[in-house]
Amino acid sequence: MTKPSLVIHGGAWDIPQSLVAAHRKGLKTALKEGWQVLLHGGPAVDAVERAIIVMEDDETFDAGRGSFLNAAGEVELDASFMDGKSFRAGAVAAVQTVRHPITLARRVMEESEHVLLVGMGATRFAREQGVELCSLDDLITARELERWRSLQGKPKAKTKDAFRKKRKPTGTAGAVAVDREGNVAAGTSTGGTPNKYPGRIGDSPLIGCGTYADNVAGGVSTSGWGEAMIKVVMAKTVVDLMALHNGDPAKAAKEGLKILVRKSDGFGGIIALNKAGDVGVAFNTPRMARAYITSSMDSPLVQI
Ligand code: GLY
Repeated sequence: MTKPSLVIHGGAWDIPQSLVAAHRKGLKTALKEGWQVLLHGGPAVDAVERAIIVMEDDETFDAGRGSFLNAAGEVELDASFMDGKSFRAGAVAAVQTVRHPITLARRVMEESEHVLLVGMGATRFAREQGVELCSLDDLITARELERWRSLQGKPKAKTKDAFRKKRKPTGTAGAVAVDREGNVAAGTSTGGTPNKYPGRIGDSPLIGCGTYADNVAGGVSTSGWGEAMIKVVMAKTVVDLMALHNGDPAKAAKEGLKILVRKSDGFGGIIALNKAGDVGVAFNTPRMARAYITSSMDSPLVQI
């Protein structure tokens, strides 16, 4: 029997001091709810979905309600899920009226023969599956509407420069878990980057880039500048590095981040969990909201 572990993140970016307490609180709640699933003997897939649903409902995070708006002033959500036991994967991209994209990604994984559904097709699948739909306005908060308004009519900075000089936010929520049976699962959900071109998708809904899980080694979820993450197939790269380094998740995450910087001059953060439940985190943004708990810990570690 394996000792369960759960690691989650609520985004790697220059989180303003005014939002630190809300991130901490949101992470604590999400970790607690996901951990309850594992403590009661539940599967890793349920713990991952539960923790991410909590973050999608918490408008602090760039996932579900509270997500950044695209250039058209609308929310477009991406999510992905991978089950390391069955080696099945599911994802959705650019969905607009789905309250919990992570649940829809799991349904794609478990109830369809596909891996990735986008836009209207994904919404149609949500309706068929009885996954909760909502209005566009339900997902938009006053804070994000204000951010979007402030960005209109201004010359658009290149994402790379925006990251460097203005610390462009990229929130994202993710989770990786291993359960008692030694099964690993990972998931990621995001609203993407602020003022993104409509239809743009980043790393989060792409299996191998934002999310990866394989019982043989472990699982990974990422956050940060998606365009850079995609080019180095970040999540799969780190899982492969874990396998290479005797399952060391900290070493793998650190080395993965070096590859991200060297090959695509990227920015972001990585959470990694090996099949034994050890956790690794690496990021090169000013802050990363992350939290984890393992069976050998008395209380969770929450860090911003
Ligand atoms: N990492 C989230 C995104 O770029 O959309």
